[in-house]
Amino acid sequence: MNFWLNIPKPIIGLSPMDGVTDASFRFIAAKHGGPDVTLTEFVNVETAFFAPHTLLKDLAYSEIERPVVAQIYGRTPELFYTVAHIVCELGFDGLDINMGCPAKKVAASGSGAALILNPELARSIIRSAARGIRDWFEGRTLSDLKLDPEFIERIRGANRLRSGLETPAERRLIPVSVKTRLGYDRVVIDEWIQTLLEENLSVISLHGRTLRQGYKGSADWTAIARAVEIAKNSPTLILGNGDLKDMDDVRRRVRETGVDGVLLGRAAQGDPWIFRAKEQVKQALSSNSGAFIHHAPISLEERFAVMLEHGNHFARYGNPSSFVGMRKHLAWYCKASPGAAELRSQMVQVNNVSEVVECLRNYAARLAEIELAGRRSYEHGSRARVTSMFFSLP
Ligand SMILES: Cc1cc2nc3c(=O)[nH]c(=O)nc-3n(C[C@H](O)[C@H](O)[C@H](O)COP(=O)(O)O)c2cc1C
Repeated sequence: MNFWLNIPKPIIGLSPMDGVTDASFRFIAAKHGGPDVTLTEFVNVETAFFAPHTLLKDLAYSEIERPVVAQIYGRTPELFYTVAHIVCELGFDGLDINMGCPAKKVAASGSGAALILNPELARSIIRSAARGIRDWFEGRTLSDLKLDPEFIERIRGANRLRSGLETPAERRLIPVSVKTRLGYDRVVIDEWIQTLLEENLSVISLHGRTLRQGYKGSADWTAIARAVEIAKNSPTLILGNGDLKDMDDVRRRVRETGVDGVLLGRAAQGDPWIFRAKEQVKQALSSNSGAFIHHAPISLEERFAVMLEHGNHFARYGNPSSFVGMRKHLAWYCKASPGAAELRSQMVQVNNVSEVVECLRNYAARLAEIELAGRRSYEHGSRARVTSMFFSLP
């Protein structure tokens, strides 16, 4: 059941971003943009059993996101075995192992991108996760693993809430993938990709930077092309990642490097609609067209409606006690609005959806006033549109 093979190429997915691509953002991206695949924020296998409620919150998703992949990280192979069972039991379509995170708290403990320095441990982790999936597929249960019955009940509850079923309708042998970087402090793509290919992964997603680079400089797509070359005769797909700004960029990089697909991260912040043009990219590549790729501009009405939908989803399913995690999304949504700076500064202070509505209402009123006074014209709307937006806000 390798869903990756059923996606028409190039695969265009949403890259995992801790603190950003939570269940609410992924729901919005799936509904309004439609990436080919989504990945959860990464979840640490070492802490998974100390805080089951956090694990289940981090691994919450909605059916609309499918195919959806759980991303996990850590350094203890046996724990990957157990967490792989949980990922399967939660009905995910795939399991991804993070071997690319450069953050100190992750890499300093030997996890994430630090695994590039420890290929034997990396192999052992992949094998353990794959064995966990296989054993679950062959009938092993969470009770067999001696998981706390209360935890098992919570997993069933999460499934019931999401899909109406306590356990997945069928046991599937889900694919294993790895998301990684070009190297630790230098590019070691030849050795590293070869090591990973020997583990029969379904996909390797490659961010075109080393750990040492963090997010500095530019992603090295020549090195990504080299990885494609190395993987040419293997069944493993290569997804490129790093600095893709829009779908025109996606087409260019896919054409230049021959990657099987891409993951987009930061470009989707405040722009879940970015994936709307993905079919244009696929068509342009298959017909070799050079036409400019873009989706229809997002009107202010639609932007505001999605901000509220996202805020409501976050308030309901995200962190009910704090709206802080939603603020950055709201500010990102305002990037493209006229007079954005003031609106953004208000958005990073809101505490609930009512305050968002209040800010947007005031903003719409200001726009309408200025427009009525005829002092400026706005690229984003006619007088009728701005005025109707003002009245249609809840
Ligand atoms: C805030 C933030 C959080 C991230 N968290 C993760 C993560 O949890 N797992 C992961 O594999 N990569 C993570 N990344 C890396 C991104 O998935 C992606 O590889 C990187 O941002 C480069 O792609 P981009 O230029 O399209 O953003 C994160 C990046 C950012 C900016």
